[in-house]
Amino acid sequence: MSQKSSFDCSTATWSNNATCTWNRVHFKDSKGNLIKTVEANEGDDILSIAHEYDIDLEGACEGSVACSTCHVIVDPEHYDLLPEPEDDENDMLDMAFGLTDTSRLGCQVKLARGLDGITATLPSATRNMFVDGKKPTHH
Ligand code: FES
Repeated sequence: MSQKSSFDCSTATWSNNATCTWNRVHFKDSKGNLIKTVEANEGDDILSIAHEYDIDLEGACEGSVACSTCHVIVDPEHYDLLPEPEDDENDMLDMAFGLTDTSRLGCQVKLARGLDGITATLPSATRNMFVDGKKPTHH
């Protein structure tokens, strides 16, 4: 016996999905081209979602706020809905390459109601202070 949900969240639009807990997230590359739109649940963070869907967002410290490789640029409309970054996030963001007014650490941005349609744009480069990823240089 299968119990069917009375409401199919997979086909709902945001305006009529009051019982759904997922959000759509648009990932864009540094040039603003859409990479992928995915659906994720409330409570999921942008970094985990990116990894789940093979988006190239590094996350070298795995969410312990000790790097800036999960830096994403959030669209201004949704940025304003996010809780303020903690001090440790701000410290790491200061080291992020290509910091903008709406930059956040992807591992610290958790989806919540109202964030449907959030856009996370990947910066053109990241600076990794956490893992030694130096490439040998030749001249
Ligand atoms: S993964 Fe290192 S700060 Fe987010």
